[in-house]
Amino acid sequence: MPSQFIPYHSPQIGDAEIESVIETLRSGWLTTGSKVKRFEEAFSNYIGCSHAIAVNSCTAALHLALDAIGVREGDEVIVPAMTFAATAEVVLYFKARPVLVDCQPDTLNLDPSQIEAAITSRTKAIVPVHIGGQPCEMERILEIAEEYELKVIEDAAHALPASYRHKKVGVIGDITCFSFYATKTITTGEGGMATTENSEWAERMRLMSLHGISHDAWKRYTKEGSWYYEILNPGFKYNLTDIAAAIGIEQLKKCDEFRRAREKIAKIYDTSFADLEEIQTPVRRADTEHAWHLYVIQLNLDRLQLTRNQFIEALREEQIGTSVHFIPLHLHPYYRDNFGYHPSDFPNASSAFERIVSLPIYPGMTEADVETVIGAVRKIVKGPAGDEVHF
Ligand SMILES: Cc1ncc(COP(=O)(O)O)c(C=O)c1O
Repeated sequence: MPSQFIPYHSPQIGDAEIESVIETLRSGWLTTGSKVKRFEEAFSNYIGCSHAIAVNSCTAALHLALDAIGVREGDEVIVPAMTFAATAEVVLYFKARPVLVDCQPDTLNLDPSQIEAAITSRTKAIVPVHIGGQPCEMERILEIAEEYELKVIEDAAHALPASYRHKKVGVIGDITCFSFYATKTITTGEGGMATTENSEWAERMRLMSLHGISHDAWKRYTKEGSWYYEILNPGFKYNLTDIAAAIGIEQLKKCDEFRRAREKIAKIYDTSFADLEEIQTPVRRADTEHAWHLYVIQLNLDRLQLTRNQFIEALREEQIGTSVHFIPLHLHPYYRDNFGYHPSDFPNASSAFERIVSLPIYPGMTEADVETVIGAVRKIVKGPAGDEVHF
């Protein structure tokens, strides 16, 4: 048994990030300032978007995005059942209703063919989530949005960098929200970014991200700024710190290199599991470039003698960490009890949930780590001698 535990994720923090943080700490300016501005500029250059607004989480970006497009109490917003808590909870912040829609069984992304049935006169927006970093079928989603006059807010927490039909995620929908949480493809510890082409929404998000006041704090207190400010709206405290931005600036420089490293691991997994009928490897669409934030396998339970939970336990015994993305929203007590959702309402998400496992995939994995994961998966599926295991 390998002695070293292989986590499901590990952030890649190098000397450049550490030095950048130290320099920021020594600069005397810790909160939102010139580093955040530089991070935003670098990010918008990288994506090729007009506006990038740095905030302290993707959740904050999603909240600001819905505010900017004018979601109000009583509105409805279409959200995939297969997602993280944040995608839907931000809708509830407005006393609006998240209306869940099922996923495609293979990509686990929002199923465009089921969106129209969920649209009512109260629907304001669609929030596609690019699960694992593979873009949703955006062309169809944008067509539906246009037909019903809805806005598209992309939850791209997993999708940096990713593209759909040669367009980078970040310039496709109306507003796109990224995450720099510790496990994401690049990190600032906690952090997020909203991108848009719309100046009015950008200005509104910027304003609401810092108390709805008319000037950034750093402009107020530095010599070029003034002490005067005006509260234009009761906003939020969502600003990113310069300490976090100092990490982000360095991480962004490595974004493509990180993606290539993850893609390489994904390809090795694909090849190594190709002969295993017990496992379905991630399906990729030809017209997308996958960020490979996650490598989600689906177990073919009818070919296995163990459940998904037992599979995860067996991998843990082999010193391999995994995760599950996600427990679909409709299976959680809050959504079940408050909206009356039943597991059978979203059969694809419910069925996938029983079978999904996210395997380790991050640039710091060595070839030996990848081989260890492959060996362990094969052993659990086939048994050490290549036979079926019976639990
Ligand atoms: C799909 C999805 N959306 C949103 C979020 C929220 O991101 P953050 O932690 O930056 O708020 C996450 C975080 O894991 C996520 O997986």
